[in-house]
Amino acid sequence: MSSYYTIRWAGDHVSMIDQRRLPTEELYLRHDTWQEVAHSIETMVIRGAPAIGIAAAMGIALAAVSSRATTLPALRAELDEAGRGLLATRPTAVNLAWALRRMAAVAERGDSVEALTRALVDEAQAVYNEDVAINRALGRHGGALIDDGDGVMTICNAGSLAVSEYGTALGVIRAAVEAGKRLRVFAPETRPFLQGARLTSWELHREGIPVTLITDGMAATVMARGLVRLIVVGADRVAINGDAANKIGTYGLAVLAKYHHLPFYVAAPLSTVDPATSTGADIPIEYRHPDEVRGFRGERTAPAEVEVFNPAFDVTPSELIAGIITERGVARAPFEPALLAMLGKVGTAGR
Ligand code: MRU
Repeated sequence: MSSYYTIRWAGDHVSMIDQRRLPTEELYLRHDTWQEVAHSIETMVIRGAPAIGIAAAMGIALAAVSSRATTLPALRAELDEAGRGLLATRPTAVNLAWALRRMAAVAERGDSVEALTRALVDEAQAVYNEDVAINRALGRHGGALIDDGDGVMTICNAGSLAVSEYGTALGVIRAAVEAGKRLRVFAPETRPFLQGARLTSWELHREGIPVTLITDGMAATVMARGLVRLIVVGADRVAINGDAANKIGTYGLAVLAKYHHLPFYVAAPLSTVDPATSTGADIPIEYRHPDEVRGFRGERTAPAEVEVFNPAFDVTPSELIAGIITERGVARAPFEPALLAMLGKVGTAGR
């Protein structure tokens, strides 16, 4: 058990560590309404695909707990509104829609307001608990791909802070370390939001896992010098053909990995695989405020009016991906049949 947590259902409210303040301050924020949860997703208090799915599920549970509705139709109308509000927070990570669909299915059941409220709280906690188990399973499959003595590059934060606990890409790394392998992680700082610097290096350093922080532009040099043997990243949405959206800069790492003949792996739970998204071209990419690039935490590092391009994610084509590590094993090309089989949908009819 680590000494911090990402998100927790606390009986009648939701508590989250404020990731915007890390690594300098460990502050937990209390959320009493779904609107507060939605605001925290939008403003990056919590981020990372599985974590925002969990937050959305807990947001729906909060909508029920904080409701004054006395009839099921009235409660369901409020839940619908909460679902729409939470869905509108961030567009790329499909775990958000996935978790809300799960909660919506539960909202159809229940024969009293009290019973439905209880069922929604239970479901939100189940989403959390299952995510813990999924990360461990995914870590076991991926950990086997790392050898003793390896250097491993990742990007952004796909660790405990991006999920319930343990992590996807960092779960793979943690599993290798737990198996006794010595390794070193190279973490690009991940401009402009610095998830690599602020979150990944914090998580790993705190746990005593050797980590070297680099600027994003140093990745090619690290690969050229033979300091890493493989790359493992997370994902926000995996199209059914294997194209994977992840933090901006990921695609560049995949191209560099190909040039340097290094395997490039994506680690993601199956809730990140979207059978309704055919290829990466169909993945909606979030564009964030230009001021994120013009400076950091209110300190300007560029002219105030300079034109900025700020996509939060990019898409790595499946041909650059050696394998997609999920809780059910490592999917390899051709990805569509492999991913459909893991999702329990045989052929394309299951879409
Ligand atoms: O903008 P963020 O910080 O939410 O982006 C997060 C990422 O891109 C992660 O790599 C991804 O969600 C995988 S997290 C297990």
